[in-house]
Amino acid sequence: MAVGPTLPPPRLLPYNPPAPDPRRTLMDISAARDCFPGTRDRAFLDAASVGLLPTQAEAALQQLVHDLVHVPARESGAHHLSLGQAAGSARREIARLIGGRSADVALVESTTHGLEILAAAIPLQHGDKVLVGETEYLGLAVPWLPKRETDGIIVDVVPSRGGRLLVDDFATAIDSRTRLILLSTVQWNNGFRCDLAAFCELARSQNVLLLVDTIQQLGAIGLDVGRTPVDFLVNGGHKWLNAPPELCRPAAAAAARLPQHRDAGRRLGRLLRQADHPRRPRVHLREGRSCV
Ligand SMILES: Cc1ncc(COP(=O)(O)O)c(C=O)c1O
Repeated sequence: MAVGPTLPPPRLLPYNPPAPDPRRTLMDISAARDCFPGTRDRAFLDAASVGLLPTQAEAALQQLVHDLVHVPARESGAHHLSLGQAAGSARREIARLIGGRSADVALVESTTHGLEILAAAIPLQHGDKVLVGETEYLGLAVPWLPKRETDGIIVDVVPSRGGRLLVDDFATAIDSRTRLILLSTVQWNNGFRCDLAAFCELARSQNVLLLVDTIQQLGAIGLDVGRTPVDFLVNGGHKWLNAPPELCRPAAAAAARLPQHRDAGRRLGRLLRQADHPRRPRVHLREGRSCV
């Protein structure tokens, strides 16, 4: 479809976001509060459920809607490409946030969607085990549960110590059939922060994959996948990252590292490609091979 030059020029948006004040810094609490009109006359303390949108997000959404409605590009190819460019900058920002590479970031619909993609992509065999903490967010394990019936996968529950998930308990639970640890880096029910560096070390030393859900961390507490090299990371945007609920497109940064998981890289790349059209996220094996 060609979007012809006969279209009227795009109308200007009625919304004009306030110009940023150069004197304001990130540490200026009242300035930060001004970015969140939802906090103007009340305290908001429930970002662990659904965060509030800042005015910057409002402006970006308005711009997107404007472009979708008025199509400033002269033809459909350019229109499509300009939408893809917005996704590209989101990937770069996400990569910056987690210390990763934008080529390893895929934009998917939700944390749950990312988990489903990973559950479909990580090859597990009959008798292989997945570990999950007793008090974990239930949705973390859900994509693996049907595999108990269909593929003979074992989902082992690791006890919590009064709501704390400790690396020593996971170490005790690992045996020769353990392939994957599922872990929220900050727990949904009590805010307990796991010792991620210790979990990464355990996973590497035991040749077990580590998949983390960071939705209760990113935006509130920093994370650097260079220092804590997890294998897979999923993160919805609608909590501490203040993205719109359901519309948000979180990151699944993916890297498969074990030789026996080369297949995972290939399958994951294919699935992410389908989910994250039109860009092809590359999935790298840790030995340095790019497999998609
Ligand atoms: C730890 C954790 N993971 C995942 C989710 C749900 O994420 P999504 O709605 O993006 O699938 C929640 C929401 O409460 C959560 O607390």
